[in-house]
Amino acid sequence: MAIWFITLTLLFSSLTAATNSDFFEYISPNSLGLQKEKLLHLHFFLHDNTSGPKPTAVQIAEAQTTNTSSTFFGFLAIADDPLTVAADPGSKVVGKGQGLYGFSDQNEVAVVMLFNFVFTEGKFNGSTLNLLGRNLIFNQERELAIVGGTGVFKFSRGYADLKTYSLDNKTGNAVVEYNIYAFQYY
Ligand SMILES: *[C@@H]1O[C@H](CO)[C@@H](O)[C@H](O)[C@H]1NC(C)=O
Ligand SMILES: *[C@@H]1O[C@H](CO)[C@@H](O)[C@H](O)[C@H]1NC(C)=O
Ligand SMILES: *[C@@H]1O[C@H](CO)[C@@H](O)[C@H](O)[C@H]1NC(C)=O
Ligand SMILES: *[C@@H]1O[C@H](CO)[C@@H](O)[C@H](O)[C@H]1NC(C)=O
Repeated sequence: MAIWFITLTLLFSSLTAATNSDFFEYISPNSLGLQKEKLLHLHFFLHDNTSGPKPTAVQIAEAQTTNTSSTFFGFLAIADDPLTVAADPGSKVVGKGQGLYGFSDQNEVAVVMLFNFVFTEGKFNGSTLNLLGRNLIFNQERELAIVGGTGVFKFSRGYADLKTYSLDNKTGNAVVEYNIYAFQYY
């Protein structure tokens, strides 16, 4: 019994020691295939339709008080918006903008956006860029942060410049022009 206890104790402490020393290490960027950074400019149009026969964004929640708020405070939507090369919704699709946006300001119309851009074209196919920021949707131009990515966008960061191309106040359907400037590793 005592021998088993000692054996188990030794085994456990040696496992603990091994785990501790394996917990982290410093590696070279090359070991992940990261060589140099280039500044990438992406240009596309995002189509966010909240109405019509096939909406690309749907409301998923709201607060009890949202219907009396002049800024839609508490309205939460989820989107799967096509990204196209031109403002025409029939132009070539290069990816999707998928994420959440919620009206998060009680004094002006501003949304918090958490979006993944998943691209479907060429060397970007399957890679994602992650956007997070505050979007004053009625301003002509605004900036949101690009906080990371996957695939060819691993370790990416930068910003997105958004301009409203068209906004139908009746339906809520919008086309937004995106210029993204982000570092990309090769
Ligand atoms: C969005 O709705 C408009 C009509 O308001 C339509 O012309 C357009 O094709 C729709 N876009 C998408 C991506 O469904
Ligand atoms: C707002 O919605 C609540 C339910 O969430 C409802 O009880 C209330 O009557 C609505 N108010 C108006 C002005 O529509
Ligand atoms: C993108 O990748 C998917 C799955 O890996 C593949 O089915 C599709 O054909 C690719 N598209 C392009 C344009 O390369
Ligand atoms: C849409 O509504 C916003 C906020 O009320 C306003 O600033 C904007 O001018 C309106 N746009 C059009 C085209 O009416």
